[in-house]
Amino acid sequence: MNQLQLFLPCAAGVEELLALEVKRITGTQGKAWRAGVQVAGSWRDAMRLNLHSRLAQRVLIELQHNAYRSEQDLYNAAAAVAWEIWFTPKQTFKVEVTAQHSPLTSLNFAALKIKDAIADRFRDKYEVRPDVDTRWPDARIYAHLTTDTVTLYIDTSGEPLFKRGWREDKGDAPLKETLAAAMIAASGWDALCKQGVPLYDPCCGSGTIVIEAAQIACSIASGMGRHFAFEKFVPFQPHVWEGLLDQAEQAITAPTAPVFGSDVSFRMVDFAERNAERAGVSHAVQLRGGDALQRMPPAPSGVMLVNPPYGERIDVAGVAGTPGSARAQRPAVPIDEFGQPLAAPAPRETGPARVGREQAYTESGADFFPQLASHWKKHYAGWTAHVLTPDMKLPQKMRLKESRRVPMWNGPIECRLFRFDMVAGSAREKKPGDQPAGQQGSRS
Ligand SMILES: C[S@@+](CC[C@H](N)C(=O)[O-])C[C@H]1O[C@@H](n2cnc3c(N)ncnc32)[C@H](O)[C@@H]1O
Repeated sequence: MNQLQLFLPCAAGVEELLALEVKRITGTQGKAWRAGVQVAGSWRDAMRLNLHSRLAQRVLIELQHNAYRSEQDLYNAAAAVAWEIWFTPKQTFKVEVTAQHSPLTSLNFAALKIKDAIADRFRDKYEVRPDVDTRWPDARIYAHLTTDTVTLYIDTSGEPLFKRGWREDKGDAPLKETLAAAMIAASGWDALCKQGVPLYDPCCGSGTIVIEAAQIACSIASGMGRHFAFEKFVPFQPHVWEGLLDQAEQAITAPTAPVFGSDVSFRMVDFAERNAERAGVSHAVQLRGGDALQRMPPAPSGVMLVNPPYGERIDVAGVAGTPGSARAQRPAVPIDEFGQPLAAPAPRETGPARVGREQAYTESGADFFPQLASHWKKHYAGWTAHVLTPDMKLPQKMRLKESRRVPMWNGPIECRLFRFDMVAGSAREKKPGDQPAGQQGSRS
């Protein structure tokens, strides 16, 4: 159990960040592959990675790596694995197959052969075989096929690791917790929070980014609120696991940095509050309602992390939202609930000019991003904003020059995490005689 080959799948684009995280948790340098990190470790490391990793989707143990040409080769490879070391014939299992350029015609048939091999091995040894349960198996087995190799893994996580156990309330387009954590890691805030640098998400929805951030600020392990498949495996020793949980419990601190979130939808803020409560960080986040186009910064400087509304999944609301839309809400009182005065809303236009502008509003909130950029240029000098979007042209739309773009995948959607440094002169096109961005409105 001390020399296991572990593989941690992750979203594409997150591999290098995950390799750093794995090193931090286990002390061992892993190897980043596409969409995952491989690392040598012990059974204890596997448990620690499940408990602490914010970026991995699962923690798999590699049990076999073989050449294959036919389904019979898969059967033989699976039959050679000592599955009885991991689970008993009284437990249930499930086989899932993924493939890249496999010559086999049916992956279902491949899965069936592997399942038969596992069942036959147990029957030969114990005269009884474990049942298959496709919904809630005790043991999940993964087979990954390339053109000519098969790798077999047992999954120590069970439910994927983005399920932290605290999210019950979610909006229309919640971010996966693992992706929120990847945004935080890519922004560098996980280190900056130790120096007290504030974090703010002005479109916080059900609170994924701010809750992940607050847990980081309090050193709360990501897996404290859930169970893992390894707890049912044969090598599991409750006292060892309880020791790891105790260590994690003792490592919890007061928040090292303030975390703020707001959303135009008060329903979302309510969800975020309840999620924060379950995640044990309600004391470490300050959540408010309000339009991102009007909210003043909750601190003189800090890091903004935003997963803004975009047409495909969720509309913009508030000042730049569709007029008359049920979601469009204007705050009744122009006072920032973080204790700062709200930015004066753009003067209400009347007559033909107003009609023309309102007609320009679209379902996807086309006006939102230029207005957000103007608001940031005017009021957020000193902040760094990291915006996750599938829109590769966002910087042009915002008339801001990004200082960094990091590729990330939001499920099947290819995105970029754009970094904008809201310093004086952050506008994309600087005209002679312009005042610093922190002192004036939008030039766009
Ligand atoms: C893609 S969702 C964010 C999801 C969030 N990251 C989560 O995990 O739940 C975008 C959010 O922007 C909010 N929103 C839309 N227009 C806004 C505006 N003008 N100001 C602030 N928030 C707005 C929506 O209510 C929605 O919750």
